[in-house]
Amino acid sequence: MIDRKSEAPASGSALLDVLNRRPAVRRPMWFMRQAGRYLPEYRAVREKAGSFLDLCYNPELAAEVTIQPLRRYDLDAAILFADILVVPHAMGLPLKFEEGEGPVLGTVRSMADVEALKPVASTHEVTQVCRTVALTRRQLQPHQALIGFCGAPWTVASYMVGGGSSDRVMAKVAAYQRQSWFVKLMDRLVEESVAYLCAQADAGAQVLQIFDSWAGDLVASELEEFVLKPMGAIIAGVRARHPLVPIIVFARGIGSQQRKAAALPGASAIGVETECDLGELPGNVVVQGNLDPVALLAGEAVVRSEVRRICSAIDRQRHIFNLGHGIRLGTDPAVVGAVVEAVRQHDG
Ligand code: CP3
Repeated sequence: MIDRKSEAPASGSALLDVLNRRPAVRRPMWFMRQAGRYLPEYRAVREKAGSFLDLCYNPELAAEVTIQPLRRYDLDAAILFADILVVPHAMGLPLKFEEGEGPVLGTVRSMADVEALKPVASTHEVTQVCRTVALTRRQLQPHQALIGFCGAPWTVASYMVGGGSSDRVMAKVAAYQRQSWFVKLMDRLVEESVAYLCAQADAGAQVLQIFDSWAGDLVASELEEFVLKPMGAIIAGVRARHPLVPIIVFARGIGSQQRKAAALPGASAIGVETECDLGELPGNVVVQGNLDPVALLAGEAVVRSEVRRICSAIDRQRHIFNLGHGIRLGTDPAVVGAVVEAVRQHDG
């Protein structure tokens, strides 16, 4: 965690203020997967675009779906509409999203496969995503921050080794064995993630989040090597070019090890999963989370009581209200509105 009180420019954004440890006008709030299939207006644009990937690489339409949730709800941030698999796609692996089945990605399982991967800078994929960032920033109000993101090396590598499937066993075995090609793949992903995040910051992203969705797969010693070390290297690489851009680390499912993520030099906040007890975290850390997305399926009364519990557990000057994981398909948009209202009411 760093304290950048003296360096950070003043801002009208509650999210930037909390991340920079300045007094904020309100508790900042946004939702992971706030743009997506639970919104009818998203489904309409998605249909117009063709496939999910066509939408990701169409800057006008991707900017439109990035902004849609902010038209419905009084949120403090938009998150760039793209996917963590843009990086392996830009590195040259074939990628498709099969309806109802999730991603199908070309595999990397040898040194020759790793050596065939391309740098992402200036690829069509990254250029289009950066156009989306620039177009979106132009359409947002000054108090609405724009968040850029990438997947962390462990999570992205697990998709690259497994071919997009949710079976991460092959990646875990290669990691335990310290296979030289796997170690090299992780290094390449650090390098390309730095390039990708810097390109987004250059294009207008004001906050960056690193998603390590599968960090919780690893035992403690492996977590150090394959989650904390690469995250630290990405943060250092980005900071060398963008010293002031806040970085949120989301290492999902690591429980009590969250304090190690919080201690990474240069991390501005930690995103915490649903299971994390906010009271257990060190008191000087900015925390993002952690409403259970399933609570939103349980209706307005449940979300109101969960919002009260979470907001009472943590001071609004060091909390970014969010979910512990993405909004689920089938969530009622009205219940999302009830969450926003409950947070605003809690803080008066
Ligand atoms: O609103 C936002 O949060 C921004 C956009 C965003 C998407 N994916 C859009 C998306 C972000 C930040 C992501 C991150 C992402 N993608 C993660 C990390 C966060 C997490 O959820 O753990 C992961 C693991 C992925 C990989 C991925 N993308 C999978 C496994 C799938 C298929 C599962 C599914 O929900 O369909 C996707 C597809 C995807 N990414 C969709 C969206 C809106 C659904 C695609 C559609 O419109 O059909």
